[in-house]
Amino acid sequence: MPDEIVHWLGEISPNVIVDGTYGGGGHSRLLLKQLPPEQGQIIGLDRDPAVSERVESEEHDRRLTVFLGSYEKIPKALAAVDVPMADAALLDLGLSSDQLADPNRGFSFTKTSAELDLRFDPESGQSAAQWLAWHKEDEIANAIYQYGEERYSRRIAREIVARRRREDGVKTVEDLVDVCRRCVPRSKNHDIHPATRTFQALRIVVNDELGALERTLQSAPDWISENGRLAIISFHSLEDRIVKNAFRDDPRWNVLTKKPLRPSEEEIQQNPRSRSAKLRVAERVQQSNTT
Ligand SMILES: C[S@@+](CC[C@H](N)C(=O)[O-])C[C@H]1O[C@@H](n2cnc3c(N)ncnc32)[C@H](O)[C@@H]1O
Repeated sequence: MPDEIVHWLGEISPNVIVDGTYGGGGHSRLLLKQLPPEQGQIIGLDRDPAVSERVESEEHDRRLTVFLGSYEKIPKALAAVDVPMADAALLDLGLSSDQLADPNRGFSFTKTSAELDLRFDPESGQSAAQWLAWHKEDEIANAIYQYGEERYSRRIAREIVARRRREDGVKTVEDLVDVCRRCVPRSKNHDIHPATRTFQALRIVVNDELGALERTLQSAPDWISENGRLAIISFHSLEDRIVKNAFRDDPRWNVLTKKPLRPSEEEIQQNPRSRSAKLRVAERVQQSNTT
């Protein structure tokens, strides 16, 4: 939703912008154009080491600095560039098209022999294959139900655990796709792959995606300047609910988008993955109004 981001964040003429999910840098490139010439700065973060490697290998605007790390570390990144607060910040949650297109990350179902990893940062924490190898059946079922909203979660968990006993466990994309095909009946219009919800659930778990979002929403009023703005694009109802509630329940925010903004038909046609995107924007109210 590039036009909406430029509108809502550009409107306040920010000097310091944080792009907490830098990815391919598309939003940052547009936001750089909103800064006064030769002034201001964008501080980008991404958990994926491939992003920082790519940025280091490219020529880029000297007003841009990109750090490797979770957006939970935004205060640390601001301190590293000697800036006390951000005027505007963006979180564009989920996966980038580069990650989805890379057959070795386990995010897409195309290269099925790839290891079932699903981490944004493959150098920290447990891969999805390791997570499935070490957790109990009911923990696996609960995670798939809670984070994937998959009604066949118990069947899937039972089959995963049975494979651990019978065979070598669930190690590759192909292994998990096969489990899901056996356990999930085909949807009526065949519009959703039987493994989609389970992959989403495991990705959320191994990256602690909802925890990172909750913690960042709690801390954001401390590092966004008064009248500064935070824009969040989410891709599923679990994330959107967290954003909606945090903006509504914290008196330090004034919600600018009473209903979430959705992409235009034109954007959906150009980029079908944007179909489920929802954008919410809030403004940090002045301190005197919250005390
Ligand atoms: C939808 S993409 C962002 C695309 C970007 N806005 C653009 O214009 O190219 C999401 C990015 O967020 C990153 N990401 C996911 N969780 C993160 C976290 N907790 N901290 C920092 N980056 C994260 C992913 O690695 C991915 O590159």
